[in-house]
Amino acid sequence: MIKVYREKDYAAMSRRAADIIAAEIILRPDCILGLATGSTPIGTYENLVEKYQAGELDFAKVRTFNLDEYVGLTPDNDQSYHYFMKDHLFSHVNIDMDNTHVPDGAAADLDAACKAYDAAMIAAGGTDIQLLGLGQNGHVGFNEPADAFPTGTHIVELTQSTIEANSRLFDDISEVPTRAITMGIMNIFLAKKILLVANGPKKADAVKKMLYGPVTPDVPASILQLHPDVTVVVDEEALPEMK
Ligand code: F6R
Repeated sequence: MIKVYREKDYAAMSRRAADIIAAEIILRPDCILGLATGSTPIGTYENLVEKYQAGELDFAKVRTFNLDEYVGLTPDNDQSYHYFMKDHLFSHVNIDMDNTHVPDGAAADLDAACKAYDAAMIAAGGTDIQLLGLGQNGHVGFNEPADAFPTGTHIVELTQSTIEANSRLFDDISEVPTRAITMGIMNIFLAKKILLVANGPKKADAVKKMLYGPVTPDVPASILQLHPDVTVVVDEEALPEMK
């Protein structure tokens, strides 16, 4: 079942998403959050940091699993998702860094890193709430359009459209890594709740296909239609008309 909140703009979308995550942390102080990077959740993290600073949230017992990481980037690289998470959330709240998990894109043995990530997530019992962004091509995590839905954590070759979309954050497109390590659909579906955020006109096509199109690995986010508890928070530009 997918519940949709259609908010006026990015700020309202971010407030709504942060409220949903904050409620989870308040109700269950040792909850497990699945986290995403990219531009979309930055406002959500800003709101969570503000709530923490206002004394409304305590991250001391919160555990986290991030969706993905570029292959070949070490955590100190400012383009890595490890760095992003510290920059936007972890450094600003009282989270215990030992309780945070981000796939190891710099591992010498990437297959072993994938297996270890799956094992850690399964041992934890999956996440309580998984935050997702949405790729313009309908990807979630870095599960790109494909012939079948990938299951566990795996290595992907990024599509040209994803490399181009992400190049805005690099000095030159040639610096964008071409591979990533990402949770698969199995990992995402371990979540008790899923929260997807999307804003802006560039996401409108993917949002429409995710919500109303057929479930197909060609639009990886469409499989969310089969999860029992999904909340999608969009701005008006990402969902110009409700069906
Ligand atoms: C990031 C991730 C990706 C992004 C997606 C949208 O951890 O898993 O699926 O959520 O590429 O990125 P933005 O928000 O930058 O448009």
